[in-house]
Amino acid sequence: MKLLEDRIHTDGQVLGEDILKVDRFLTHQVDYALMRAIGERFAAVYAQAVVTKVVTIEASGIAPALYTAEALQVPLVFAKKAKNVTMNDELLSTEVYSFTKKLTSTVQISKKLIEETDKILIIDDFLANGQAALGLLELMHQAGADVAGMGIVIEKSFQNGRQQLLEKGIKLTSLARIAQFENGQVRFALADDL
Ligand code: G4P
Ligand code: NA
Ligand code: NA
Repeated sequence: MKLLEDRIHTDGQVLGEDILKVDRFLTHQVDYALMRAIGERFAAVYAQAVVTKVVTIEASGIAPALYTAEALQVPLVFAKKAKNVTMNDELLSTEVYSFTKKLTSTVQISKKLIEETDKILIIDDFLANGQAALGLLELMHQAGADVAGMGIVIEKSFQNGRQQLLEKGIKLTSLARIAQFENGQVRFALADDL
């Protein structure tokens, strides 16, 4: 998505070896016009898929996911990072390990919000090692819901999340794919929405 790649070139900041800071339009300050364009693009890609719900994980997935839900005219459900690990029969629940933060967290969605008859489009802001994505897939599996595919705003293609998802047969739509960072600059690979 050209608009997004241009914005990453303008406002993105490469931190160290493998982190892209995008706090001027996605992860802290949010550009609603860009988020709406992103949502409309995801909705166009999945227009024929008969999606019944959009699912993401708090916090930074919510903005692009909400505009996707609006464009598809379906509800948005976001997984919550649990404050404790108390199991409860009313919850879909799984553990997600973050390589960035080096800690495991429990992510949960209320069982009543995802039904067996649902067809889910998963949206997230970043795809790195794919742990959050795999966690959301696990929650959908627990609910018995079908997954139409996964829409990612920014994929770091040099990390292994993409490979893990494709191995599971998941349809992946990454609007910006970062092949690598070169001297603090971003070099893109061909995006999935073209
Ligand atoms: P993974 O889920 O793909 O395995 O990613 P990882 O554990 O490495 O990422 C943990 C968190 O860091 C996720 O947010 C993810 O979106 C974010 N992240 C990963 N790579 C980057 C990056 O290059 N830049 C930025 N800005 N974020 C990145 P989170 O902490 O779970 O959620 P949130 O509350 O911040 O949205
Ligand atoms: Na994030
Ligand atoms: Na996220």
